[in-house]
Amino acid sequence: SGPAVYQAEDATISQGVVESNHEGYTGTGFVNYDNVTGSYVEWTVNAAAAGPATLEFRFANGTTTNRAMTIAVNGTTVTRDFTGTGDWTTWQTVTVPADLVQGVNKIRATATTSNGGPNVDRLAVN
Ligand code: GCU
Repeated sequence: SGPAVYQAEDATISQGVVESNHEGYTGTGFVNYDNVTGSYVEWTVNAAAAGPATLEFRFANGTTTNRAMTIAVNGTTVTRDFTGTGDWTTWQTVTVPADLVQGVNKIRATATTSNGGPNVDRLAVN
């Protein structure tokens, strides 16, 4: 089977808004993080079985400034760069390896700079 796709606009959003004014997103829109440290999107991923997975975050950053975020998987955190993609309509992916538990997994992408996060389209779990 293919990846399980979790749209950002369906996730829990703290300090961000769903928008659709930059084309190329999937689903019905993307999350525009507020331009503050600590803004986040949190997905609930229900895994049929425990085991390794690759988390793929699809994003756009129309600035030239990295908008690094922490990625927390069930509370265990790594940091990833979300560098400029050239335009708000140019979408790229960042991946994070994860060990999922069976059942509910909480995956949170939190902005670490005062610029907030990039625009985030979705999380795919492979
Ligand atoms: C622009 C852009 C937004 C983006 C924002 C930002 O306003 O249109 O989609 O989220 O910049 O800097 O975060």
